[in-house]
Amino acid sequence: MNITKNAIMEDQSNISEVSVALAARSYTIYIGEHLTPQVIDYLKSQYAGKSLYILTDDIVCDLYAVALRAQLKQHGFEKCYLHAVPAGEKSKSVESYATCLSWLAANGARRDSLIIALGGGVVGDLAGFVAASYMRGIDFIQMPTTLLAQVDSSVGGKTAINIAEGKNLVGAFYQPKAVFCDSEVLKTLPEREMRAGYAEIYKYGLLWDAQFMAWLDDGHGAALLAHDQNDVHEAVKRCCEIKAEIVSEDEHEGGVRALLNLGHTFGHALEVLCAYDDRLRHGEAVAIGMCLAARFSVRLGLIAAYDAAHIEAHLKSVGLPTAYADITDAPAINVDDMLSVMAKDKKAHAKGINFIVLKALGTAFITAKYQEDDLKAVLQEFIG
Ligand SMILES: NC(=O)c1ccc[n+]([C@@H]2O[C@H](COP(=O)([O-])OP(=O)(O)OC[C@H]3O[C@@H](n4cnc5c(N)ncnc54)[C@H](O)[C@@H]3O)[C@@H](O)[C@H]2O)c1
Repeated sequence: MNITKNAIMEDQSNISEVSVALAARSYTIYIGEHLTPQVIDYLKSQYAGKSLYILTDDIVCDLYAVALRAQLKQHGFEKCYLHAVPAGEKSKSVESYATCLSWLAANGARRDSLIIALGGGVVGDLAGFVAASYMRGIDFIQMPTTLLAQVDSSVGGKTAINIAEGKNLVGAFYQPKAVFCDSEVLKTLPEREMRAGYAEIYKYGLLWDAQFMAWLDDGHGAALLAHDQNDVHEAVKRCCEIKAEIVSEDEHEGGVRALLNLGHTFGHALEVLCAYDDRLRHGEAVAIGMCLAARFSVRLGLIAAYDAAHIEAHLKSVGLPTAYADITDAPAINVDDMLSVMAKDKKAHAKGINFIVLKALGTAFITAKYQEDDLKAVLQEFIG
């Protein structure tokens, strides 16, 4: 694959750097294997003598956070605190958020302290919002430990928690100071979580880069899921480049950034209907949502039926769900259930719901031009 977009630098130790260009809020994403020495160097150069607050979940805590804190203490960061929330989406809650704020205050966090978000998208979104709001904003860095977080949620500054009325309804745009994507930690990630992250990877190809999509189709997708280190590196780098390019152009989602929501309006509705529980991971919901977006695009006469079939076949081939029937113990729902949840999505507006649709494989756009009957027909066929 020939990467041309965005500035990339590779040093001798095969660490790639992708910059997110946002004037005073610019930062670097470091991608490589065994990045802890780079993290320590970075912290020594930027936060020497400051207090560090590692926010993680209880699974990542045992795997990585305890060891990271020990290393940071060895390197002179005497004031290095650790807090683990229960693993899972339910920790993106108001209660969990309040607990984190109290933990910071109780341990003397100040304006010059640093939060380290070590974990998947749940920890990253929660820690980011804690950082955005504690004392009106303190620094944080992202150390994403899931594939999904490395290719998507750790980059771009969207931070959020959920409330009973909906997912990610409370949050802030707040950029990290740096992001460290260490492929080594992905080796302990359960296969299901790897596949969930892969859905977001395929999304970038589908909406932005036909060449990248072809590369994934050509066996590199399956190889990276089998932890081929070169392919993991290449894919994480390409996704971060695309996200950096899009976010640099449209930080607050007034335009092009909305394309990153391909499949998400459908997917979020399914997550809500499955009560955010273990039946459906976020990335799995996105995989099904992309298939629905592709079918909707066919219905609108934008792409051919075989293009939608191609997308479904690929996602299925790597073990991702593509149909409603693929969700184990799926709740009994009808088209109106889907429509009413989608209408509450935060991307819905007064005139209706905008959808991200495909013009071709590798090109997406946002549209409000569709007939409700077409949407209903696609949903009816999907639910069966
Ligand atoms: N902010 C954004 O732009 C953005 C984008 C996409 C998704 N998200 C959010 O991200 C969240 C989903 O993130 P996720 O899929 O990373 O889920 P997650 O954070 O719940 O992690 C999934 C599971 O993997 C475990 N885990 C994490 N790293 C591990 C490792 N290295 N080894 C073993 N186990 C590990 C976690 O403990 C958890 O049980 C959702 O809340 C979604 O809304 C945010």
